[in-house]
Amino acid sequence: MKHFLTLLDLKPYELAHILNRAFELKVMQKAGKTHHTLAGKTLGMIFDKASTRTRVSFEVGMYQMGGHALFLHSGTTQLGRGEPVEDSARVLSRMVDAVIIRTFDHAMVERFARYASIPVINALTDLTHPCQILADIMTYMQHRDEIRGRTVAWVGDGNNMAHSWINGAVAFGYHLNLACPKAYAPDESLLNKARSLGAQIELTHDIRAAVSGVDLVTTDVWASMGQEKEKIEREKAFSGFMVDSCVMAYAKPSALFMHCLPAHRGEEVSANVIDGPQSIVWDEAENRLHAQKSLLEFLLQQ
Ligand code: CP
Ligand code: NVA
Repeated sequence: MKHFLTLLDLKPYELAHILNRAFELKVMQKAGKTHHTLAGKTLGMIFDKASTRTRVSFEVGMYQMGGHALFLHSGTTQLGRGEPVEDSARVLSRMVDAVIIRTFDHAMVERFARYASIPVINALTDLTHPCQILADIMTYMQHRDEIRGRTVAWVGDGNNMAHSWINGAVAFGYHLNLACPKAYAPDESLLNKARSLGAQIELTHDIRAAVSGVDLVTTDVWASMGQEKEKIEREKAFSGFMVDSCVMAYAKPSALFMHCLPAHRGEEVSANVIDGPQSIVWDEAENRLHAQKSLLEFLLQQ
């Protein structure tokens, strides 16, 4: 039995298998072919934070594969009223076949996984968002080819998405350039671990240096969920970190633009970039569905 709390939980060949299968599932779904590979299976979906893409893609994915998903919002569960994580993990393990969790503290998901006897998937924590990277790599492959050996530029906050791109550099073998304001660098131990595992990662404060000649540019909001009170101070710190057409012009002419969404046009990305010809954000959002269906199949067939 395996969990998926970060990209480092699975071997590169397992991730490659999940992505290949995701493309097959996508073809079947587009062709209207029944693919009830998870018939009778159930997925518990614990959410302590808001979501559109993650919730909908997991719930629809389970339905399309013949299974069922239960939306468990913290405001309406005993977990939300303080029932111990360890107890909730053991109880849900007796009732459902897998659990996804979106919460603040990554350690909560780790604790839950330690006491669960079913696969646990990280559906976003303050530390990482690995499901998004599965969809992002699938989307790059859809538009180009293998991402191994390519260069990705991350512009903005050293947040959960940046951390996942860092772990992705280990798992998928791309070079990663991060341009972050000094006070908003990624977690040092996570970065050092990725480097020690062979990832080629440059950290800079200079957007131009980070983006020059890259194959893919990506960014995310300046204030993540839970950081709403820091919005004003973050806007100041991140001024100059918008991905606009001048920034995209440093990248290769063939470079693509991605954003996990939701996006703030005029803050971390200009409207003409996110809505422009280099942007593949809608495919990226759609591929959450296909990549996670494949992930669920993989974890439930272990
Ligand atoms: N990208 C992403 O995870 O979107 P949601 O917050 O809508 O789930
Ligand atoms: N960094 C963002 C990602 C949302 C999908 C957040 O945590 O709010």
